[in-house]
Amino acid sequence: MSEFKVERRGGVEVWTIDGESRRNSISTAMLAELNALLARAAGDRALRCVVVTGAGDKAFCAGADLKERARMAPEEVHAFHGGLRRALSAIEAAPQPFVAALNGAALGGGLELALACDLRVAADSAQLGLPEVSLGIIPGGGGTQRLARLVGVARAKDLVLTARRIGAPEALAMGLVTRTAPPQRLREEAVALALEIARNAPVALRQAKRAIDGGFHLPLEVALALENALYQACLGTRDRVEALRAFAEKRPPLFTGE
Ligand code: COA
Repeated sequence: MSEFKVERRGGVEVWTIDGESRRNSISTAMLAELNALLARAAGDRALRCVVVTGAGDKAFCAGADLKERARMAPEEVHAFHGGLRRALSAIEAAPQPFVAALNGAALGGGLELALACDLRVAADSAQLGLPEVSLGIIPGGGGTQRLARLVGVARAKDLVLTARRIGAPEALAMGLVTRTAPPQRLREEAVALALEIARNAPVALRQAKRAIDGGFHLPLEVALALENALYQACLGTRDRVEALRAFAEKRPPLFTGE
């Protein structure tokens, strides 16, 4: 059985975790398929933006599949964890921007999956949290690091040390998500955002993602040099020439990613 439902609309794909009965939690099979999808996306030049969401209206992703976990040997848990870390790093390294559409609970590894994406949009009813310390572990899929980098150390500790769940308004206020939507409109709004992104020049999108992620923690001078190198790489593209021509001809540009 396929773990994801994949739909394509122009340059945008929607990857829906198709495990509603287990609240779209991350099983070994789901993780393998996610890694395969990411490997395919990395080489797909026509794919401009990806939306990741979950089936149903209860959960985006309820973290690791705890039922499967209870049956796993320690070495299997170790391998699973490595696979999760690889997948989340692959999302960050992907040439396309990723949008997480949080259609319900995003907990533990589910929130970590969302944190690895470039943007997060939440349904008004979504619940977000990193409950690991209440389960005798800590977030191990980048949660302590990516959350602190996104919302600051104090807010990250407020969430991680209490293990509490927050609603969409609080997530929006702290910048953990950048948009919210009524549950029935979430998917449509996330896809609209992805299509808006996908209209832009692919090389420029890739370089912009790299510049922001790669430069954020560098000293300013080094970060500005990184930005400059990535900017220079855009100058030689056909898409830049096309954008100038389209402006002069008063028409939308037709980008090819070259
Ligand atoms: N792994 C495996 N199965 C899970 C799961 C998970 N992480 N989360 C939920 N499920 C299963 C439940 O066991 C239940 O299965 P059952 O029908 O066989 O009993 C089914 O999904 C529905 O769960 P339920 O709690 O009744 O659904 P809900 O819609 O009321 O609540 C959640 C959804 C996600 C809020 C709730 O299930 C939850 O808090 N899950 C645990 C999340 C968690 O702690 N994750 C680990 C982080 S480290």
